[in-house]
Amino acid sequence: MKGRFIVLEGIDGCGKTTQINHLKTWLPQSGLMPPNANLHITREPGGTNLGKQLRELLLHPPKEESPKPITELLLYAADRSQHVSELILPYLNKGDWVISDRFSGSTICYQGYGRRLSLEIINQLEEIATQGVVPDITFLLDLPITISLQRRSHRNNDRIESEGIEFLTRVSQGFQVLSLQENWIRIPAEEKLDLVTQRIENELKKLRDKS
Ligand code: TYD
Repeated sequence: MKGRFIVLEGIDGCGKTTQINHLKTWLPQSGLMPPNANLHITREPGGTNLGKQLRELLLHPPKEESPKPITELLLYAADRSQHVSELILPYLNKGDWVISDRFSGSTICYQGYGRRLSLEIINQLEEIATQGVVPDITFLLDLPITISLQRRSHRNNDRIESEGIEFLTRVSQGFQVLSLQENWIRIPAEEKLDLVTQRIENELKKLRDKS
């Protein structure tokens, strides 16, 4: 793959969207990208047209038709499979850069640690869904769960966000474990926005210096 694949992960309310919006303008003029490479911003679930429909089914299902845990896992895997085939892989092969709001790590943490589904099965599904695509760098925007709950107290929470504190605690523990295992870059996300931004920019500059 000629391009670069950057992923942001973290619990709900950690500020991924704000940081990605900043990167969208900063990165193309940072001098870090090759002049002919384009930047694509995407997300999971919902990075493709098919994925948008899966996102609705996952996050706002019709009443009484909530997906069961295994169904939920398979729908996230289906979303990722389509996302990788239709968008991520073709762009990376072209030499473009892709930033994704969530990727495989979210499935491991939410469905694995949160729902307590088998990590072995999840890893097998991930192998199929990702076709071997691995991020060049993953940022964990690390936010204490109390702040996540505070930040989201005034907004309409979707099905996953409404799961409650025990589920969120397990997800958050999952992110701690996985970020260490996978050498993700951990950024404390309760800091001021500018500081979080600065840290992400610095890490991306280091990535260039390594290559
Ligand atoms: P996100 O788009 O970050 O939510 P929002 O934009 O509303 O802040 O993520 C949607 C939800 O999907 C989030 O609660 C995490 C969940 N999710 C999983 O449970 N498993 C997954 O594999 C992914 C990608 C997301």
